[in-house]
Amino acid sequence: MSATGVDGRPGLADATRGRILFGGDYNPEQWPEETWHEDVRLMREAGVNSVTLGVFSWAKLEPRPGVREFGWLDRLMELVHENGIGVVLATPTSSPPPWMGRLHPDTLPRDEDGRTEWWGGRQHFSHSSATYRRYAAAITEDLAARYGSHPALTMWHINNEYCTYDWGDEAAGTFRRWLQDRYGTLDALNTAWGTAFWSQGYGDWQEILPPRHAHYLNNPTQVLDFKRYTSDMLLECYAAERDIVRRHSPGIPVTTNFMPLWAGQDAWTWARQEDVVSVDLYPDPRDPFGAQDGALVQDLTRSQARGPWMLMEQAAGPVNWRGVNHPKPRGLNRLWSLQAVARGADAVCYFQWRQSRQGAEKFHSGMVGHAGKQGRTYQEVRQLGAELARIGAEVTGRRSSAEVAVLHEWNAWWAGAQDGRPSREVDLPRVLRAWHRALWESHVTTDFAHPEHDLSGYRLVVVPQLYLLTDTAIDGLVAYVRGGGTLVCGFLTGIADEDDRVRPGGMDARLRELFGIRVLHEWWPLDPGEHAECEGFRGTLWSEEIEAGDAETHSRYKGGELDGLPAVLRRERAWYVSTLPEPDALRALLAGVAAEAGVRPVLDGLPARVEAVRRGDLLFVLNHGREPVTVAVPGTYRDLLGGRPVTDSLELGRYGVAVLAP
Ligand code: GLA
Repeated sequence: MSATGVDGRPGLADATRGRILFGGDYNPEQWPEETWHEDVRLMREAGVNSVTLGVFSWAKLEPRPGVREFGWLDRLMELVHENGIGVVLATPTSSPPPWMGRLHPDTLPRDEDGRTEWWGGRQHFSHSSATYRRYAAAITEDLAARYGSHPALTMWHINNEYCTYDWGDEAAGTFRRWLQDRYGTLDALNTAWGTAFWSQGYGDWQEILPPRHAHYLNNPTQVLDFKRYTSDMLLECYAAERDIVRRHSPGIPVTTNFMPLWAGQDAWTWARQEDVVSVDLYPDPRDPFGAQDGALVQDLTRSQARGPWMLMEQAAGPVNWRGVNHPKPRGLNRLWSLQAVARGADAVCYFQWRQSRQGAEKFHSGMVGHAGKQGRTYQEVRQLGAELARIGAEVTGRRSSAEVAVLHEWNAWWAGAQDGRPSREVDLPRVLRAWHRALWESHVTTDFAHPEHDLSGYRLVVVPQLYLLTDTAIDGLVAYVRGGGTLVCGFLTGIADEDDRVRPGGMDARLRELFGIRVLHEWWPLDPGEHAECEGFRGTLWSEEIEAGDAETHSRYKGGELDGLPAVLRRERAWYVSTLPEPDALRALLAGVAAEAGVRPVLDGLPARVEAVRRGDLLFVLNHGREPVTVAVPGTYRDLLGGRPVTDSLELGRYGVAVLAP
């Protein structure tokens, strides 16, 4: 098998082999074996070419400590293989069997109040528990030895949605060791954490705890380090299992599935440790911005993958974890699946194949719902499977390129999301969505990037908000602008250093100079529903009392305490936006700056609710509206889905999609 991934490792192309992977989590241990045969028949009918097995099978594989029951999985692997379906095989380590909690209570995590997370749900494992890690390594070893060279195996899937925290005693020990590695000495830790305030000075490592329930605000840098540490501990668990499966199957790529825009893992760091980057994505079908939400996560995942990526899970219909769980109207599953493909996915998979009749997720849709093969959900899945098979060879492996990068970073999120800040209303995902939406609605394709990445390939870099920035990142942004790039920065950026220490002047001096800000006097956060009147628009969420130096003021605050002060200013190609403009205004501002930077929309004159994305030389056009539209597409194309030729103009019905090849 050829190595198609990054750094000579196997990659997604080794699993897809020119097809779009289509399928999903298959949990057949819920069903009698006759049903498996019916399942496989329906899978073939639906064009399913990939199933993910074993995600929650630990109790079935190891019913008692050390006992192995692989017979059922042997039969299942053979069955799907005989039917030409590949297997993404999961290590079952996200849901330990009940015997583990009973025999080894040390494997159970504790929350910040000291409460135990008991078995009976799932993901009740402590990342720090040596016992848990020992059992996890042992079952992974045996699974990998048995199936590592099985012909059905296309990919390894480690654990599932790593998302646990632990404030318990064993975790306190690993936290101390992590801190010793980071700081070396207690003096360095005391300095970084600013423990001189509130009598927090540590004289012995044993005094240090995870940030447990406290009378009043926890030390912010302790909380920040706890988040860094948690991400690192989970990554250690992942890497331990990954290294085991790699030993047994060196040619098989390895992944673990991210949750979308999830705060618990530094996904930039994690992505580097994976052969395939995969994500689970569940936009709300009722959310008017569901498509944009999807696009944001898809752009972020593609950027982390540095190429094609895997949509590991989505829902064919409703989920069961919102307050009200809406089904997908006819056509929406197809539309959102093809949107993921447009934005770089080479795999379109679901949770789960057959809807459960029992257990916690029996009201969560499956590819085959309670209505069975007659149901609309399955019928639409089947249609989609046929279409993905039709376009797979021409789509897979192609890359999309963007001229704009949006910067996002986890340390900034962790430090900025704590209590004791100027405003609890400022929520990074909300701000990020607002800025990404402005670009999405301007039909400009965006990558995401880490602030320390090389940004020189982008015409425009957008920083919705990065409260914490390292010196390296700040120097990089300054160099980017000096090198000819255009930068737009939102409020509350560059405030803190790596230890969450406020930079002198309230905002880093290099950035103030870059934007031409002489003094940042005060932040004036806004209440929910409150607006700051500015020339040409209204600001929300935040405003600032800024004194410009050699900046050019683009727009001023009008009325109130900030009357006449700059709201948006620029110094040459470096823009600073001190509030969150309302959506239309933010879109107009960014579209203007992008045009000045030479960034073009994918297509001119696109109707609202129509998305256009280029993937290689293919042009995807997607109608997110319920009304039919006519779209101008200058040139002559072949529509890979409809098979028809298209010249200059395209008709798309409700939720219609065209994939145009030159
Ligand atoms: C996550 C999990 C799945 C399932 C779905 C439900 O993505 O990985 O096991 O619980 O959520 O939406």
